[in-house]
Amino acid sequence: MSDLGKVAVLYGGKSAEREISLMSGTAVLNALLARGVDAHGFDPRDRGLEQLLIEHYDRVFIALHGRYGEDGTVQGALELMGIPYTGSGVLGSALAMDKLRTKLVWEAAGIGAAPHVRCDAGIAPDFDGAVAMLGLPLMVKPVHEGSSIGMTKVARAQDLPEAFALAARYDSVILIEQFIEGTELTVGVLGDEALPVIRLETPRVFYDYQAKYFSDDTRYICPSGLPAKQEQAIQAASIEAFRVLACRGWGRVDLMLGQDGRSYFLEVNTAPGMTDHSLVPMAARVRGMSFDDLVIRILELARVGTD
Ligand SMILES: Nc1ncnc2c1ncn2[C@@H]1O[C@H](COP(=O)(O)OP(=O)(O)O)[C@@H](O)[C@H]1O
Ligand SMILES: [Mg+2]
Repeated sequence: MSDLGKVAVLYGGKSAEREISLMSGTAVLNALLARGVDAHGFDPRDRGLEQLLIEHYDRVFIALHGRYGEDGTVQGALELMGIPYTGSGVLGSALAMDKLRTKLVWEAAGIGAAPHVRCDAGIAPDFDGAVAMLGLPLMVKPVHEGSSIGMTKVARAQDLPEAFALAARYDSVILIEQFIEGTELTVGVLGDEALPVIRLETPRVFYDYQAKYFSDDTRYICPSGLPAKQEQAIQAASIEAFRVLACRGWGRVDLMLGQDGRSYFLEVNTAPGMTDHSLVPMAARVRGMSFDDLVIRILELARVGTD
């Protein structure tokens, strides 16, 4: 693996998802070391990125989640330095971090997404108008956060102001979305390929922060059990949803399969969790790829430059 050169694994950072990133980065680093790669952990909270040039790094594995890592900023710095990095470039990363712009691109491209109303934190929205347009229940979410932070499912119109106020604590732009009843799916993307679809079943109101990181009551079903044709169609649509956002390399696409049989895409995660019980590694395993193989493959796809 010496041809991969000296590799920095970026982890930690300054976002709300720092702790998760430390777990992902540690797992990635251990996998690279196990494969004999000259890999080193690098926490951009403590060191300036210019150290990557000074210390002659050849490639970067980005295991940062959220702002300042998954949002195009670190990608921009690496572009300027000319150091190949894993995952999406500046544009794809920035678009995917913004759930509103993501939906606008998808809607323009004819890719299904939940109908929504956009609101600004400082301006009291027309709650009745939103309910009249979208119906109930609704999902209220900040546009930029991850890990289900600041999100509420609202079943009664009178609970909308409180949900809005919560989301407004995290972001200046808030999305009120139609709540899609149905089956939650997530699709890992590796290069040009969609990994096997994972079906999520949670006894909770939705797949919230607690469900994601702390409780073990969510079931992850992979192979998904969907009919083969439907699985393939969802994989193809997920690749399209990923590409139209200018995403590349690897990532994970979240969607709801509505009771009407249609796909409603929720978001793309451009640097999803990479602990050995994270979802992309789970799907890779079903596809016959070990965690270490997956990490190496993602690193081989590292690049610099816009497409
Ligand atoms: N419009 C929606 N309809 C139904 N469930 C939703 C909707 N939006 C989000 N969810 C639920 O909330 C979870 C988190 O939403 P998501 O948009 O993926 O944000 P995050 O970046 O926090 O993961 C999803 O995994 C899903 O369970
Ligand atoms: Mg999500």
